[in-house]
Amino acid sequence: MAAANGHSLFVEVQDLKTYFFLHEGTVKAVDGVSFNIYEGRSLGVIGESGCGKSVTAQSIMRIVPSPPGREVGGRITLYLKDDQQHQEVVDVLDLPASGAKMRGIRGKQIGMIFQEPMTSFSPLHTIGSQIMENILIHESGVSNKQARDRTIEMLSRVGIPRPKTLIDAYPHQFSGGMRQRAMIAMALVCGPRLLIGDEPTTALDVTIEAQILDLIKDLQAQFGMALMYISHDLAVVGEMADEIMVMYLGQVMEHSSTDEIFDNPLHPYTIALWRSIPTIEGKLERLVPISGALPSPYATIPGCPFFSRCERRIAGTCDGAPPPLKEVSPGHQVRCFLY
Ligand SMILES: Nc1ncnc2c1ncn2[C@@H]1O[C@H](COP(=O)(O)OP(=O)(O)OP(=O)(O)O)[C@@H](O)[C@H]1O
Ligand SMILES: [Mg+2]
Repeated sequence: MAAANGHSLFVEVQDLKTYFFLHEGTVKAVDGVSFNIYEGRSLGVIGESGCGKSVTAQSIMRIVPSPPGREVGGRITLYLKDDQQHQEVVDVLDLPASGAKMRGIRGKQIGMIFQEPMTSFSPLHTIGSQIMENILIHESGVSNKQARDRTIEMLSRVGIPRPKTLIDAYPHQFSGGMRQRAMIAMALVCGPRLLIGDEPTTALDVTIEAQILDLIKDLQAQFGMALMYISHDLAVVGEMADEIMVMYLGQVMEHSSTDEIFDNPLHPYTIALWRSIPTIEGKLERLVPISGALPSPYATIPGCPFFSRCERRIAGTCDGAPPPLKEVSPGHQVRCFLY
């Protein structure tokens, strides 16, 4: 099993393709994406709306709505460990999405915080019973009392006030920020080896966002969990991630360590993104929107997907064939004919 800087590999995604087959055409939501996630490390994923961030995460969890979606190619390998620390290698795309094995992985091995908190709680059951159920499904020999105590403790750790009372509240009785915290509690209660946060703080105000980010970082340091952090917000990703993957129309445009990609962004898309977002220090610079509109998701683009909006495009080259993703310096990959 591969390791990087002493961190063991947990997820290996190779050439993943997840498409949606719709009446209007085929959306290649994820179109040949490869990356690794290591224990104790954080991968940030950024890119404009619709570039395939959520569908990449959903593919790892095997929760892509199907139909119309389907993982049509590639491999997603998990390097699991059982309670005796024996390693088990699983290709999740070979597993039935709703089978026992995959259900055992979701929630236990991989916890996910969703973009929209209401999607992960049923309105019909209390917050506490839903978090407890996650423990009782995944861990044998745990009593109801133990599951309840652990749930109260977890709710308290994510900053829910009066957890002994609010454990019995229903989702609609929580504010948006509290639901988001409760969802984090649910994602973490079984001690997952990977936490996927899909815009986990988008719905929150900045103060609560900062608290949640600190909480995720603390828990990561404490449990040595891997983190996949998806966001539009470059400043947040920069703070959370050790490395950053930039996506555009289902493909990886650039991928490198966070320091490197901030200091030395190479892809014209990355550079345009950096310019369009306020600086990390919060300096108020004028935002420069990326010119041009995103192509239709149904379009078949023969060359570089960013061609139509790229300031440095070379007609005849960039629109002829797709550029390969190239490693231009150790650990720094870019998909662009300029390099
Ligand atoms: N259930 C679905 N049915 C049809 N198309 C879908 C579905 N889910 C996603 N898509 C399409 O797949 C593409 C990638 O969507 P995805 O949700 O991964 O984007 P995203 O990068 O997460 O965007 P955002 O930043 O808005 O969350 C988009 O074109 C989207 O319309
Ligand atoms: Mg999304």
